[in-house]
Amino acid sequence: MDRIGHVVDTTHFHDHGALGDLFSLAQEMEQLDQEPPLPTTPSLRLEPRARPRILVADFHEPSSRTYNSFSSAMVSLGGQVIGTNDAKQDSSAAKGEWLEDEIRVYASYGDAIVLRHPEEGAARRAAAVSRVPVINAGDGAGEHPTQALTDLYTIRKHYGRMDELNVAMVGDLLYGRTVHSLARLLSSRKGIHLTFVAPEPLRMREDVRAYLQGHGVPFKETDDLEAAAASADVLYATRIQGERFQDPAEYGRLKGIYAVTPAILKGMREGAMVMHPLPRVGEISPEVDADPRAWYFRQAENGIPVRRALLKVILDGYPK
Ligand code: NCD
Repeated sequence: MDRIGHVVDTTHFHDHGALGDLFSLAQEMEQLDQEPPLPTTPSLRLEPRARPRILVADFHEPSSRTYNSFSSAMVSLGGQVIGTNDAKQDSSAAKGEWLEDEIRVYASYGDAIVLRHPEEGAARRAAAVSRVPVINAGDGAGEHPTQALTDLYTIRKHYGRMDELNVAMVGDLLYGRTVHSLARLLSSRKGIHLTFVAPEPLRMREDVRAYLQGHGVPFKETDDLEAAAASADVLYATRIQGERFQDPAEYGRLKGIYAVTPAILKGMREGAMVMHPLPRVGEISPEVDADPRAWYFRQAENGIPVRRALLKVILDGYPK
């Protein structure tokens, strides 16, 4: 298959072949990683070039996992990373430079750009002017496609399937970009039932609901976390996105509205999964961490093989 270009949303991976090939590669990388190499072991690195391949990290919003897992993934492939995790302060964005100008220049400094930006649509704007692939690492309240890939990879790892799943999403479904991307990605699978648990002001955004309706994906909306958790194969909790609120008082009123506690966990199925893209700020109590259903730290770890595989197919194409 050809190399893939920009990754601004999950659309490319709605194709089951493209998704399956990506996840097989991620799984292979994960397995071979632990083995001593044999003469027959395929290379887990990028194809050699005269110079190392370079990923430009351009993060205009705080990040722990996405920035560092992309960096770790690129380095483990034999590539290098330049750029910043604090572009808002230490790049010319602080002088008011346009994103488009910045991206045009960065495209000549590396082989791909991974961009996080507070404005929705920023990754698409960047892709429109970039001659190297742009990977969306979160654009405001818009999308976070590589997190959704990590999430679905984690679900597949546990259940051995990506279809026939009840997925409950709880928290900030209006501003939370991870759930927008995950809901869209799941809509490409069969037998998916979604339940959205959110206070009225933070209910799943309209365009995602319309998209699901358009694709015949059943969903229900409720404020009853306990009931939603009890019937879920996956309970996906999210942080209330304080930085996106106009009114701090409104944030104060809504934060802490839902929490996955031992009492909620008690009503959940054995073998169910509690997920969270992290960081959590109270949405899952620490008492839940020791339960085998707590998947969020393993989920974060899975960001490595998924991003390695993604960088490999972006830079070299799918292995033949
Ligand atoms: C999320 C993000 O930045 O959208 N974190 C992540 O990338 N794993 C979630 C959040 O900030 O709430």
